[in-house]
Amino acid sequence: MTPSPMQDDEQPVIMPHAYDGIREYDQRLPNWWLFTLFASIAFAFVYWLANFTTGTLPDDRVALDAELAALEARQLAAVKDLDEATLWKMSRNPTTVAEGQAVYAGLCFSCHGPRMEGIKGVGFRLSDDLWVHGNTGMAVFRNINDGVVFDGKPTGMAAQKALGAARVAAVTAYLLSFQQQGRMQAIDRTKEPSQLTP
Ligand code: HEC
Repeated sequence: MTPSPMQDDEQPVIMPHAYDGIREYDQRLPNWWLFTLFASIAFAFVYWLANFTTGTLPDDRVALDAELAALEARQLAAVKDLDEATLWKMSRNPTTVAEGQAVYAGLCFSCHGPRMEGIKGVGFRLSDDLWVHGNTGMAVFRNINDGVVFDGKPTGMAAQKALGAARVAAVTAYLLSFQQQGRMQAIDRTKEPSQLTP
């Protein structure tokens, strides 16, 4: 592209100031240059409006967070020696918790209720912070994995080993996502049966 044509008889316009002897031309900017400038300004405005103000465009951060959560979930699921800290980390990972929720909806809700509120005479309430068979993440994991025996008798909570450690860990993480670390209380099974189910 050529700058705006300058007739032969036209003298270049020169600004009146000079800095260290350097003079400045005052020419009309070429159209393609002006077009690029104004188009960029218009685009920036529309982009700002769509991305940050009205939220019309999908937010990259949401997609990024979901990808990072899925990545962390895979790393956590690959941990060989599961421990308390890993279980609590899992309980804060949305991907793992969603996996656990799916397991719960498929296998556990029939005895523990759709919202973990418990079913009288069938399964304990799991939504409160009272825990009969151990008040740590690892105890909950073992109770789900191995089943619960009380007074030498199976209690109706059968071992879920067949799920595999990763899915048992995920459903444990789902239960823990409703708890606060260090705030799970131990409760005696024989003394307050009314608190175990609604
Ligand atoms: C056939 C019914 C049944 C199913 C299905 C079932 N549970 Fe249970 N669960 C029980 C019963 C009954 C108890 C209480 C044991 C007792 O009487 O001491 C229990 C206890 C528990 C406990 C211990 C609660 C505490 O206070 O310590 C956890 C955790 C638990 N279940 C999780 C699960 C999960 C997760 C699933 C799904 C993978 C599941 N249960 C499926 C019947 C069931």
